[in-house]
Amino acid sequence: MFDSTKPYEFKHSTIVAGVPWKSPIGAASGTYNFEACSVFYNPATIGAVSTKGVSPVPWSGNPAPRTAETPAGTVNSVGLQNPGVDHYLEDDLPRLKAMGATVVSNVAGHSDDDYAQVVEKLAQSQADMLEINVSCPNVASGTSVGSDPVALARLMKRLRPLTDKPLIVKLTPNVTDIVSIARAAIENGADAISMINTFVGMRIDTRTGKPILANVTGGVSGPAVHPMAVALVYKVRQAFPHFPIIAMGGTMTGEDALEFLYAGANAVEVGSAALIDPAAPVRIAVELESLLDERPELATALRSGKNWIEITAEEK
Ligand SMILES: Cc1cc2nc3c(=O)[nH]c(=O)nc-3n(C[C@H](O)[C@H](O)[C@H](O)COP(=O)(O)O)c2cc1C
Repeated sequence: MFDSTKPYEFKHSTIVAGVPWKSPIGAASGTYNFEACSVFYNPATIGAVSTKGVSPVPWSGNPAPRTAETPAGTVNSVGLQNPGVDHYLEDDLPRLKAMGATVVSNVAGHSDDDYAQVVEKLAQSQADMLEINVSCPNVASGTSVGSDPVALARLMKRLRPLTDKPLIVKLTPNVTDIVSIARAAIENGADAISMINTFVGMRIDTRTGKPILANVTGGVSGPAVHPMAVALVYKVRQAFPHFPIIAMGGTMTGEDALEFLYAGANAVEVGSAALIDPAAPVRIAVELESLLDERPELATALRSGKNWIEITAEEK
């Protein structure tokens, strides 16, 4: 029987924007909660933990109900509820670092000023990487920056001088031309792309004819989005063969993660699977370990910070 609390040591690792990850599998933002998850596994076991988005001051999030089930995932409208960056710096971040985790600190904001304030504070912290969430569909300002290359370029020009830490830009799938958004991030100082955040979705209670979520719409995640996420990762990878990409969207098994790696991702984060089984990131990392045992070329590429698409192009 699978025991998530075992001190797993993975032989297959990856490097994302110069930062070593102990496994190509990490935990996705908003789905890792220290109290709930550290009971099930040591966060230092996996590649990295991306923590819940933090804003300059505490945010209470959206009214309930904030989640609705679908046959293949959930629709959530949590709305970036969080206790604020100061609390994060005193609480979650030091606790995760004390356990030896590689931490991706996820940054939320309603404005360029908000993002800048958080990045300035995190710049002095123990965070290993900063992930700029310009892609939340559940806050009024959520995707406005992430769906406008000009606005994203402006934000990145503001944030880049504030920190030497690797900056990851998290992309929304709710755009027509994701490559132009990725380009705006890459040309203005991003060190990596993470993709995807949730798709806009909605459920209606057929007994009342009314939306289930108080916010009316939410973000769809889980197995339903996996094929779309794979296609978008592949598309961005084709446009930028060498740029670090962290993939997420509906990863439930090691095979799902492997698909992302073949699409050109350098690492994969597990989100919604952990809402059903908090230990899912470790289980999936264990499953991927044996799949990579059988694929030494891919494993070697990841270990040296390369991706499948660039090494197979080099062979041609
Ligand atoms: C309940 C919930 C909360 C989330 N909160 C955040 C967040 O704070 N910041 C962020 O960048 N992404 C957030 N996400 C998006 C996930 O990190 C991930 O990108 C998305 O869910 C797709 O992956 P999955 O299908 O494996 O869940 C959240 C997702 C869920 C389901």
